[in-house]
Amino acid sequence: MSGKHQSLNIAALCFAALTLTSCAGRQQSVVNPAGPQSGQIATLWWFFLALLSAIFIIVMVLTALTLTRRHRGIEQEPLEATHLPPPQTEAGLTRVVTAATILSIVILFVLLVTSIITGKNLSELQDRKNPMVIEVTGQQWWWQIRYQNSDPQQVLVTANEIHIPVGRPVMIRGTSHDVIHSFWVPNLHGKRDLIPSRVTTEWIQADRPGVYRGQCAEFCGLQHAHMSLWVVAEPPDKFKTWFDGQLKPSAAPGTAVLQRGQQVFMNHACIFCHAIRGTSASGQNAPDLTHFASRRGIAANTLPNTMGNLGGWITNPQNIKPGNHMATIAMNPPDLQPLLQYLESLK
Ligand code: CUA
Repeated sequence: MSGKHQSLNIAALCFAALTLTSCAGRQQSVVNPAGPQSGQIATLWWFFLALLSAIFIIVMVLTALTLTRRHRGIEQEPLEATHLPPPQTEAGLTRVVTAATILSIVILFVLLVTSIITGKNLSELQDRKNPMVIEVTGQQWWWQIRYQNSDPQQVLVTANEIHIPVGRPVMIRGTSHDVIHSFWVPNLHGKRDLIPSRVTTEWIQADRPGVYRGQCAEFCGLQHAHMSLWVVAEPPDKFKTWFDGQLKPSAAPGTAVLQRGQQVFMNHACIFCHAIRGTSASGQNAPDLTHFASRRGIAANTLPNTMGNLGGWITNPQNIKPGNHMATIAMNPPDLQPLLQYLESLK
């Protein structure tokens, strides 16, 4: 394959990769902003892209012109052995280099100033008077979500899925239980690291309803790639309905099979790590399962929340997510089906 063909192929591959990554993830995309914070970031990104693309094209055109131009006067007057250009060419070159240096400095300053202005605008998008605060704790490899409230009755703990009301600024107070993770929901804001024994904050706001994907953005161990979350932005009344529903204790098992399933859960080691409000299970080391069936995914959204996936996950969690902290629990085969049905009844 010729060099020209090879570089054309590489360029086509890069273009395809860029197009695919920006189109495949409308639910997780920096260039599809859903709120004012991500809007500011996207505007800055487009400005950088336009300016730097223009510079790239100009530099490439000038390089091509220089390479293809015949050296003026080379026929009449061969260069001296010293290769020194004549004085008038030297002066011209000095002027061009000086102008290019000044222009580069000006352009870098423009980029710096626009970045600072964007940062300042972002820091002003807050609601200090009546903040809605959600604590996000990164853990290997899932997200604990806690809706803060001065009234303990209104504190809600859940996992791997955040619901927010549309149009309201929400403060994410992030921290970590183990290593450094990073909270990143590209449609809503940039990355914010979650650091053990420290609290970092970030304000997000969604201006249109939608389900936006977030992903841990700091390498945090074997299953870093399987650490995602959903942010569900809903109209305020729908959010209120969801929130009030989530505050309620778990649904009581209504049938004999569900009762059996609940007993299986209570008689196994599940209760040491998981909590189901309204039962005696109150473990705090793993996702709260009170309304487990209302969530979209299992294992930090590694798999969609279906009974089949849940069966595979409980039977052998290390097969699906090697290295994760979920214990493999020995269970009699007849116990599994009632347990799955019970967990999937926790709407
Ligand atoms: Cu958590 Cu990467």
